[in-house]
Amino acid sequence: MAFQTIELQIEGGIATIMLSRPKALNALNFAMVGELEQAVQQVRDDPTVRVVVITGAGEKAFAAGADITEFKGMSAVDAWMFTQRIQRLYLEIERLAKPVIAAVNGFALGGGCELMMACDIVYASERAKIGQPEVNLGIIPGAGGTQRLSRLIGKQRAKELVLTGDMIGAEEAWNLGLLNKVIAHDQLMTEVKKLAEKLAAKGAVALKAAKEAVEEGYDIELERGIANEGKLFGLCFGTEDKVEGVNAFLEKRPPQFRGK
Ligand code: CAA
Repeated sequence: MAFQTIELQIEGGIATIMLSRPKALNALNFAMVGELEQAVQQVRDDPTVRVVVITGAGEKAFAAGADITEFKGMSAVDAWMFTQRIQRLYLEIERLAKPVIAAVNGFALGGGCELMMACDIVYASERAKIGQPEVNLGIIPGAGGTQRLSRLIGKQRAKELVLTGDMIGAEEAWNLGLLNKVIAHDQLMTEVKKLAEKLAAKGAVALKAAKEAVEEGYDIELERGIANEGKLFGLCFGTEDKVEGVNAFLEKRPPQFRGK
């Protein structure tokens, strides 16, 4: 499928979605949101895709947020509809039955930071700058920022970022628990590729079950969460990958998972 605002490349089981409006720091305009919806659907339905990477084109930005030029003249109802659409897209990414890695190559602001937080693992360039600057525009985050940020880093620190609109650097974001790893800028995609290949070699059903157990258990009480985990654990015992994984361990050889 030909896209105008993103690029989608699928190779060796790894789908890389690149936000590609570098002149506007990859700001998420309506067209990009629409194309991201299509790309996410495509990678979700393609059984050859085992891992998804999301990154930004150019040297400066992952994504500098929603496209502010489209906010001019936007009515309250239009804004509500837009936010619902982008929220659904990010939920879809968060719940994708495949690991999603964010490769944050620069600014991750507003809707860009919110997209990053919907990903499973975040590797960032040492040049990354992260924040929810919406208050500077007289608005608030609308793609899950007020919710995911406080769940990830705690209410107090989240309120500081959302209320000040300040950007923080990669080290500080790592210290807060927003990033998994900070990497030298020119090594970012090499490290992300290594991680993606490592994940692609694992059993796809086990990864799906593991992600589902964490995601579904996150907002519910412990007892229900561990009960759900138990069911998913049981389900893994019905897979060919479990037979292969256990046999490979006992036979002292690397496993060859088939995602079945
Ligand atoms: N929307 C539209 N255009 C944007 C943009 C955005 N979010 N961010 C940057 N751009 C454009 C700039 O207007 C500029 O375009 P021109 O060359 O045509 O003038 C180009 O990208 C380069 O940007 P700058 O010249 O500003 O680059 P800089 O290095 O001086 O500053 C920056 C970088 C600090 C990220 C600055 O561009 C900035 O503050 N951008 C806005 C960030 C922001 O407020 N994001 C939140 C958006 S609202 C949102 O995301 C709501 C939500 O929750 C869904």
